[in-house]
Amino acid sequence: MTRLGVNVDHVATLRQARGGHEPEPVAAALLAQSAGATGITVHLRGDRRHIQDRDIRVLKQVLAVPLNVECAATQEAFDAVVPLKPAWVTLVPETREELTTTGGLDAVFLQSSLKNLVREYRTADIRVSLFVDPLLDQVKMAAKLEADAVELNTGAYSDLPYGADASVELAKLKEAARLSTRLGLRVLAGHGLDLRNVGPIAAIPEIEELNIGHSIVGRAVLIGMEPAVREMIAAIALVGGRA
Ligand code: PXP
Repeated sequence: MTRLGVNVDHVATLRQARGGHEPEPVAAALLAQSAGATGITVHLRGDRRHIQDRDIRVLKQVLAVPLNVECAATQEAFDAVVPLKPAWVTLVPETREELTTTGGLDAVFLQSSLKNLVREYRTADIRVSLFVDPLLDQVKMAAKLEADAVELNTGAYSDLPYGADASVELAKLKEAARLSTRLGLRVLAGHGLDLRNVGPIAAIPEIEELNIGHSIVGRAVLIGMEPAVREMIAAIALVGGRA
């Protein structure tokens, strides 16, 4: 079945709102893991608005599933992330003004700086995924840069109004996923996925894992973390996730 990585940033957002200890993102990650998440993702932003370096250190110690750290494609982020030794790093575009990641990394434009960064992360034994829009040139560049994986940005698909024709966005994702696999990249996808729209994405056979944060943490506030993760896993399995 398509695997589920759970992003727990928003648990840290709530904690930072009061600057104390609760709720604890590490506890949320452990509950997600026990409910069947096959990975945990956190975004270490330059402004440290939610996840802190300490969270990653503790997550690394306690998790059994791989930890994926999203961060900017900068030397500053590299210097912060490498000592924390996550299994994966996902390079994303980052601006201080944005509420969340908006759009994929332009790997074509950034190729010369990415080339060194990808190599240096891999030398540090950290696998590298590039968060890119589902465009063939971006996928080709990710392969050329010798990334281990791409995470295809499902934002444009997720932003479609309920009931709209999603065939154009789905076709882009399918084509990008097929090319990624053909070029030897592992394929993940995420952004804006929820119980309603996850099915057609989970049905794309090349996509191994989905990274979902906002909708799961939003549901967790109402029904608890473990049920929220379980219902997403059920939605992935039910609507088309591979067996
Ligand atoms: N993938 C990437 C690269 C992201 O930046 C985010 C948001 O932090 C997600 C997936 C998860 O998106 P959402 O919170 O909308 O599920």
